[in-house]
Amino acid sequence: MGTSGSQRSAGILASQRAYYDERAPDYGDATVPDRAQGPGGLLGEDIARRLVAEIDPNGDVLELACGTGIFTRALARHARSVTALDASPRMLERNRQTGAPSNVRLVAADVFDWQPDRQYDVVFFGHWLSHVPPDAFDRFWALVAACLRPGGRAAFVDEDDRASAYDDCTIVDGTPVALRTLRDGTKFDIVKVFWDPDELAARLAALGWTAAIHRADECTLVGIATPNRSN
Ligand SMILES: C[S@@+](CC[C@H](N)C(=O)[O-])C[C@H]1O[C@@H](n2cnc3c(N)ncnc32)[C@H](O)[C@@H]1O
Repeated sequence: MGTSGSQRSAGILASQRAYYDERAPDYGDATVPDRAQGPGGLLGEDIARRLVAEIDPNGDVLELACGTGIFTRALARHARSVTALDASPRMLERNRQTGAPSNVRLVAADVFDWQPDRQYDVVFFGHWLSHVPPDAFDRFWALVAACLRPGGRAAFVDEDDRASAYDDCTIVDGTPVALRTLRDGTKFDIVKVFWDPDELAARLAALGWTAAIHRADECTLVGIATPNRSN
């Protein structure tokens, strides 16, 4: 990708950050849909709890792109500690106001511009991987590996390729881009990669991870991945 391509890519990531920060006040409100049609990617607290229980995240957990905290609160029921990171101040404020448990520490940071100062037993991300552009995929997983203690694992929940029926993506410099509209009509580009579980597992295998990924519920995938070498 040339300079203009990387600038466009950086522009989409900035738009994605801005969208979620603006969207934070009504994020999760079913009367303000995420997109024009389809089931929407937002999970209820009960489903989040069930999916997290399946993952069984013990020890010290890092949650990337935590949002309003649907998964943060579920993770905190299992973990010794949860460090929950997000780029949006308004998402973090909602996470805090919704009653982040005492074992949760909230961190404001851009995933693509952040380095860990310690390692974790589990790195979790809910509805985030689909927002990682293809040209940042390897770099993102290198970060996840760097965040894990030896023996640690990554766990994730996201929409899968079945949800692509409800979105209209265009490809910009190799990145699938979807449109999101706020209640006031303001439009934003966001990255949206709809993964097929087998293709995702193969992609991770090529990066040195062993991943078990299965489909759950309507349009949702759940994955657990461990690095093949100790970090
Ligand atoms: C689809 S929401 C998912 C939120 C939450 N994990 C959930 O499942 O409800 C995506 C989240 O990623 C955050 N985000 C967007 N770009 C980010 C970035 N570059 N670094 C960290 N967080 C980012 C947004 O603020 C938003 O909270």
